[in-house]
Amino acid sequence: MNRYKNYFPIMRRNSTLAYLDNAATTQKPDMVIDAVADYYRRENANPLRGLYELSQKATDAYENARKKIAEFIGAAKAQEIIYTRNASESLNLIAFSLSELLLQPDDEILISIMEHHSNMIPWQQAAKRHKAKLIYLYPNEDGIITTAELKNKISDKTKILSLTQISNVLGSEQNLKELIPIAHAHNIVVSIDGAQAIPHEKIDVSSLDCDFYSFSGHKMYAPMGIGILYGKEKYLEAMPPFLTGGEMIDYVDEQTATFAELPYKFEAGTQNVGGAVGLAAAIDFIESIGYNKIIERETELSHLAGEELSKLPYITIYGSNNFSAHHGVIAFNIENIHPHDVASLMDSGNVAIRGGHHCAQPLMRFLKCNFCCRASIAFYNDKADIKQLIEQVKYIRSYFHGVK
Ligand code: ALA
Repeated sequence: MNRYKNYFPIMRRNSTLAYLDNAATTQKPDMVIDAVADYYRRENANPLRGLYELSQKATDAYENARKKIAEFIGAAKAQEIIYTRNASESLNLIAFSLSELLLQPDDEILISIMEHHSNMIPWQQAAKRHKAKLIYLYPNEDGIITTAELKNKISDKTKILSLTQISNVLGSEQNLKELIPIAHAHNIVVSIDGAQAIPHEKIDVSSLDCDFYSFSGHKMYAPMGIGILYGKEKYLEAMPPFLTGGEMIDYVDEQTATFAELPYKFEAGTQNVGGAVGLAAAIDFIESIGYNKIIERETELSHLAGEELSKLPYITIYGSNNFSAHHGVIAFNIENIHPHDVASLMDSGNVAIRGGHHCAQPLMRFLKCNFCCRASIAFYNDKADIKQLIEQVKYIRSYFHGVK
């Protein structure tokens, strides 16, 4: 077993597992599991409420994690970091609260056909509520939204652009440094879905100059159930709350309420402090490996997987022919075999991949495939995992068609 897999107890327990479903969720290293367990063993109490020492410790853990997350993504202020359950909740929050603030009938929202349903359905719902229009950007053959496509779709009614940074199917990365200034030049507010990007590369929201950035902890080695919404203070201040209830208020009477200051206005109810602690530990873990090493290993393995699969004449691969630019995500089909059958049979060879529509049904139709298989790589994978994947693809093909 390579030394990186050794950080993960699941890998130590199942040393022949080729876990290639990292875009769905990554495995969790000891460092994260121990940090969460230690928090619950030593510091657990309801944060922000209790006037006793243990509650203060929980509050410190919660707020220190927020500061670490703000620094990690280059946010100007910790109060621009809002805890959510996951990227889906972050995107729902933006779609609800920002559209309440901005949208008038006939206004337009721009998203791409590559969006995960989490960055699509909330905008469909917002468009319905405000009688606005949802307009789609379409990628080129490499899965890239060109500046020409963006300029072409912007109108004087466009208010919001919400875009995935890296597609969970094509693995393509948008050139945000080019696209965001174009949107801003038209006074369009920009929200980025970074769920598939932050596990793979350093994010700096200040230099990107996006107005919102959403991601989940569980795709970057942290526990499930903790996510982040970064938003520029000027928008978060002006937006109405999304979820309401405990701790998000200032003063409440029978008919009305005033709301807490940032970030608490958007954090109703008892929060996932263990998750925040786990996310802070995941950041320490990523920094201990280093994004340079992560990128080096993932690029090499993406290239290898793409090259080896593309040698097989019965395989279709989706997205760019430059497999090094796939950020670990290789979506493919085996001719005449349903991806659900492929994913199930992969399991018989101890290979974990995802088969289905990948929560991106409109993209599947755009690619004219409806369903596909997806192998998704993290830095702890190795060449042996890719070999196991390819052997299993060949076995599945011969199982169904009796040919090698
Ligand atoms: N969003 C996750 C994926 O793409 C679940 O698999």
